[in-house]
Amino acid sequence: MSTQTQTAVVTGASRGFGRAIAAALVAQGTRVLGVARNKAELAAVRDELGAGFTPVVGDATDEALADRVLTEHRPDLLVLNAGVGPHLGAIHEQTWETFTVNWNNDTRQAFTWTRAALRQPLAPGSVVVEMSSGAALKGSPLSGGYASAKAAIRFISGYGAEEADRAGLGIRFVALLPQLTPLTGIGSLAVDGYAARAGVDRETFVRGLTPVLTPELVAKAVLEVATDPDSAAEYVVSGAGLKPLDH
Ligand SMILES: NC(=O)c1ccc[n+]([C@@H]2O[C@H](COP(=O)([O-])OP(=O)(O)OC[C@H]3O[C@@H](n4cnc5c(N)ncnc54)[C@H](OP(=O)(O)O)[C@@H]3O)[C@@H](O)[C@H]2O)c1
Repeated sequence: MSTQTQTAVVTGASRGFGRAIAAALVAQGTRVLGVARNKAELAAVRDELGAGFTPVVGDATDEALADRVLTEHRPDLLVLNAGVGPHLGAIHEQTWETFTVNWNNDTRQAFTWTRAALRQPLAPGSVVVEMSSGAALKGSPLSGGYASAKAAIRFISGYGAEEADRAGLGIRFVALLPQLTPLTGIGSLAVDGYAARAGVDRETFVRGLTPVLTPELVAKAVLEVATDPDSAAEYVVSGAGLKPLDH
């Protein structure tokens, strides 16, 4: 049995995966609150998607913002997708500040909203989808603390699920681990970096990623797990679709 999402919050909704996820949700009749820091980019998404999309300009690591949005809008789907590009460089080319960029942004927003979702709490039947990365499985030697920050998001999702179960909240948590794609901001930067490291051109490197994961496929994956009450806890998302991770 599946249920239609009424109201969703998507962090990082102005570009890339988040924008595609917001578009797919609006297309199926879900009211979407899209969070990002750049006002003009969010306004462009609003122009494209219409009244079903409400821009929320702000930093997704901000606890007060998360509390306010959850209290005012009572979403039954949270998609914690916001992320920044890592500082590209080998470990000895990083500083502690560059190494921890994704911890302080991506992991912090996942922590902030997961905590708020449990403390409020969201209504029974709600779903929290947390965007990790395939890098959490294999590492990403050119991306500083990116892989470890995304691995922490897997743990945060698992801890969220455990506490929701213990308290009988009826909130489902699912972590998605997308493979690298050249089609969005963060992936595109990484593709250039890893292609140069391998000594091949971008096109050759991208051939090794086929079938290429598109933002639309990520959006489809989010819709699938959001409406499947029997979903697994974690999935790899590739150009071939969703693959549950064994536990
Ligand atoms: N692309 C890939 O190959 C790939 C693979 C695996 C996992 N992922 C993960 O998937 C997610 C989306 O990646 P993407 O490639 O679609 O990225 P993208 O195109 O660069 O978009 C990132 C989005 O996150 C927003 N954002 C970043 N930090 C934010 C913050 N503190 N508060 C609010 N919004 C914030 C950005 O808007 P503002 O800058 O305006 O805030 C933007 O809307 C990321 O978490 C990424 O790590 C990507």
